[in-house]
Amino acid sequence: MGAQFGCPKKQTKIETNIIFIMGVSGVGKSTIGSLLSEELAIPFFDGDDFHPENNILKMSRGEALNDNDRFGWLKTLNELAVKQLKKKGCVIVCSALKESYRNILNTNIKGNSKWVFLNGSFELIEKRINNRRDHFMSSDLLRSQFDILEEPKNTIEIDISLTPENIIKAIKNELKMKSEFGLFGLGVMGKSLSRNLANNDFKISLFNRHVAGKEENVALNFKNEFKELSSAIPFDSIAPFVNSLQKPRKIMLMVNAGKIVDGVIEDLLPFLDDGDILIDGGNSNYNKTKERFDYLMSKNIHFIGSGVSGGEEGALKGPSIMPGGDKDAYKEVQPFLEAIAAKDANGLPCCTHIGTEGSGHFVKMVHNGIEYVEMQLLAEVFIILKRLGNDPDQIATILEGWKETANSYLLEITIDILRKKEGDDWLVNKIMDKAGNKGTGNWTTIATAQLGMPSTMIASALFARYISFYKEERIIASENFKLEDNLSLNFTIDDVLNAYQFARIINHYQGFKLIQEASVNYKWNLNLSELSRIWTNGCIIRSDFMLELVAIFKTTNNLLMDSNIVKRIEALKPSIKKVVSECVLNELPISNLSESINFLNSFKIANSSANIIQAQRDYFGAHTYQRKDDASNKFYHTNWKNN
Ligand code: 6PG
Repeated sequence: MGAQFGCPKKQTKIETNIIFIMGVSGVGKSTIGSLLSEELAIPFFDGDDFHPENNILKMSRGEALNDNDRFGWLKTLNELAVKQLKKKGCVIVCSALKESYRNILNTNIKGNSKWVFLNGSFELIEKRINNRRDHFMSSDLLRSQFDILEEPKNTIEIDISLTPENIIKAIKNELKMKSEFGLFGLGVMGKSLSRNLANNDFKISLFNRHVAGKEENVALNFKNEFKELSSAIPFDSIAPFVNSLQKPRKIMLMVNAGKIVDGVIEDLLPFLDDGDILIDGGNSNYNKTKERFDYLMSKNIHFIGSGVSGGEEGALKGPSIMPGGDKDAYKEVQPFLEAIAAKDANGLPCCTHIGTEGSGHFVKMVHNGIEYVEMQLLAEVFIILKRLGNDPDQIATILEGWKETANSYLLEITIDILRKKEGDDWLVNKIMDKAGNKGTGNWTTIATAQLGMPSTMIASALFARYISFYKEERIIASENFKLEDNLSLNFTIDDVLNAYQFARIINHYQGFKLIQEASVNYKWNLNLSELSRIWTNGCIIRSDFMLELVAIFKTTNNLLMDSNIVKRIEALKPSIKKVVSECVLNELPISNLSESINFLNSFKIANSSANIIQAQRDYFGAHTYQRKDDASNKFYHTNWKNN
């Protein structure tokens, strides 16, 4: 698991290398296009040379082309662009006056194309055309081109009153000198992601605020520290940072979740242009992400709420990335995010467009919920193995043996943690037993309650952390409630492993079921198999079991309905029952392990005790109930006191 971070070097680097030069007739597209192609040493194609015979005939008769005539021609130019993209790129000139024409030209190459819009006044262009000996164009024809021109967004707009030399300089400046991607916020994760982007040869701009005496020259010092950042441009002031970026600007915010994100958005907004893209890579609440998505849409700015998992090392060598938001905006940032993401066993990036609105942050939140449980289960395994008389080294050795059947990143790091010594003692023995949290487990618990989905293990893992915080009261309680004498645990180490594996299946069932509920409820259309695929590497919950889930979720969205999983649970059940019962008898806190079997017991009962609840509700509140012997699902009320 640990060695799987990272991606094949540079092979995924995708450069912007199809350059379209557009504008009305007479702006000098061909001149500028061929000069630029020489300058960049890439081929030049004049769109006019690719017209089919019919179009040429029509034009020679002085007839204007209609959209139908243009369709095939634009498709030919697009095919040319796709072909050239596989080589070293090219410059293509084409008037492309309408958005729909540009969409055809951009098919399958969006994110790898740049548009240069040569713009000038009617008068200037008319004058230029009239000065050309070999080119006649009536004022009316030129006027009609201005009439149909839909001014493009997100282009490099060049004023044609500049000299050709200066035009080329300006274009090169935009294409080469400006950064492709901006990183805002250089905390631990921001720094690692920046280095990852730079290692993938992206030209980046770095921003960190200036706080006198506390955060001074952070971006500059960071750039100077690492040689891969030699071409990165550092800033501590917002306007030049934003202006240093190619349009549409792509800025990833790596700041603390919460109000800070809104503050940063407000700080950036005055400097952004229509179509620019902000990516929030922090652990933001998905509801806030939806609000920010809507707010920024009203300002014509795209917002992508993206989960990023893998901690500092993952961010540097390849995290799992969960971007949610507008699909077209995602396409613009896809080459960057996919290049820096971890790669799965087939070499595919552990990054996929999750869905719209806050879906990326929702799935990251549930990822963290699953993470809380996986961590809590290992903590419970630790306390059981400790009660069985093992020291941390011995426990590490036992867990080492579990790698064969239950390997995961969290298992691996737990083994490392248990082996770490400080002087003669193990470091774990010195760590205060109060577990912190930053809120995602809390939000998952709220979401599971709101969606009516019983992800009980996530709630239980969260509450186990909360209980741990009552350290002082726990010390007093340990005196008040004495441990019984002569306790003993009657199970084997294999039983513990089986119980652990059982609980992990229930955890993954509950986590993915919660995602499925949200998908239906919010109409996100999430793909559980693809989601488990991007969690097979880079993220904190990557595991051998996650690898299995990729295939399982291709056939079902409900893990507990999969026949192989049912068989596995049946085989593991005797151990979890034994381990949980014995631990309860021995007063060991194993709330998460216990929740797993309690959940299954509640879930697999055909006739539960919920009839009593319904009767009680009807008794005191006339809330009514349905009857098993009435298939019409009609609601009944009983006057209970007169019975
Ligand atoms: C990850 C982690 C990461 C972090 C969280 C959890 O996927 O890389 O989930 O996002 O560990 O901040 O934090 P808490 O345990 O503090 O809630």
